[in-house]
Amino acid sequence: MQPRILPYFSPSIGPEEIAEVVDTLQSNWLTTGPKTKEFEKQFASQIGSREAIALSSCTAGLHLSLVCLDIGPGDEVITTPLTFAATANVIEHVGARPVFADVDPSTLNIDAEQIERAITPRTKAILPVHYAGHPVDLDAIQDIADRHGLTVVEDAAHAVGAAYKGRQIGTGNNPTSFSFYATKNLTSAEGGMLTGPPEILDRARVLSLHGLSRDAWKRYQRPGSAVYDLEEPGYKYNMTDVHASIGLCQLKKLEAFQQRRLEIAEAYNREFQNYPELEIPVTLPGIDHAWHLYVLRFRHTDLTIGRDEIVEKLTENGIGTSVHFTPIHMFRYYREKYGYRPSDYPIARGNFERMVSLPLHPALSDEDVADITGAVCSIVRQYRKRLAA
Ligand SMILES: Cc1ncc(COP(=O)(O)O)c(C=O)c1O
Repeated sequence: MQPRILPYFSPSIGPEEIAEVVDTLQSNWLTTGPKTKEFEKQFASQIGSREAIALSSCTAGLHLSLVCLDIGPGDEVITTPLTFAATANVIEHVGARPVFADVDPSTLNIDAEQIERAITPRTKAILPVHYAGHPVDLDAIQDIADRHGLTVVEDAAHAVGAAYKGRQIGTGNNPTSFSFYATKNLTSAEGGMLTGPPEILDRARVLSLHGLSRDAWKRYQRPGSAVYDLEEPGYKYNMTDVHASIGLCQLKKLEAFQQRRLEIAEAYNREFQNYPELEIPVTLPGIDHAWHLYVLRFRHTDLTIGRDEIVEKLTENGIGTSVHFTPIHMFRYYREKYGYRPSDYPIARGNFERMVSLPLHPALSDEDVADITGAVCSIVRQYRKRLAA
């Protein structure tokens, strides 16, 4: 019998999202307009930030943050090697140099001690990623930033709904960029949201739409208001009302989505903790984990099979997986430009080689979760070096 196919990800889109998108399509406003404004308002109020700017992506929010901090050629920005390419690419986009600080082996988040070591007179900012939805040690990173006069820009692509010591991510004073990409905890198909201090957000808002002094919605709404000025050449990073329609519905479901993600992560942990060959993700005290990713690590010294073969076996069982992430310094562009060797960030690289991201999304049933844990555990039993006790 063919196994059931459990893809790595399936979107949780219901009739509410479909109706809201249709409503927008039937209205006379498709691009940035009332629904985008409403999405910004509701998102800010739900997480508890003063303000939020809806954008076309998290990448756009990260890029705008660096532009608004006037970071450019000759500057350095410290970030993690264990992230999606966008985090480092935006540093390249402003002409600055990404400098990597290796990760902490427990959370796989950027290691504060390594940040301190990577600081030079050219360092302007620290760009940590709340990897997998587990917040970084914000107090330790802020302390380093304050002592060295640096700004912290948070990549919160994975961290909608996460909290650090009771503080929701995105409610502090750092520019913080969220992702609503299709696979994220809250999606608008594509999209992002930027929160942070008013002086950054005011400029980011203007820069997100070409640098125009007033956006199209305002220009077309009121008679006599069609005249605008150009403050500085900006970008085309605005969110559309079609995307905001999806985001508004997803925001209402976020709490239930997060609850289901937590239940699934706990179900995985309960099964996998019985296997010494498996290293389950940690949640440090004081952390509310967003559980964007469930990253399981295999102890290869205890197994006769490598990560890639495990992925193949899971695929044969109909289970889709992913790997988050190939460390940035191993990519050709960064290798050739900066002369990195794979061994330069050994914790990121070593963990990359033994990690698999399992499906983690609210559409998974208990039966799906049992099939996934069953398949993983049976591979471990089949390929373990030591005999079961
Ligand atoms: C850590 C991280 N940062 C940034 C991004 C970019 O997000 P977006 O696709 O919304 O630009 C992603 C996307 O997957 C990500 O995982």
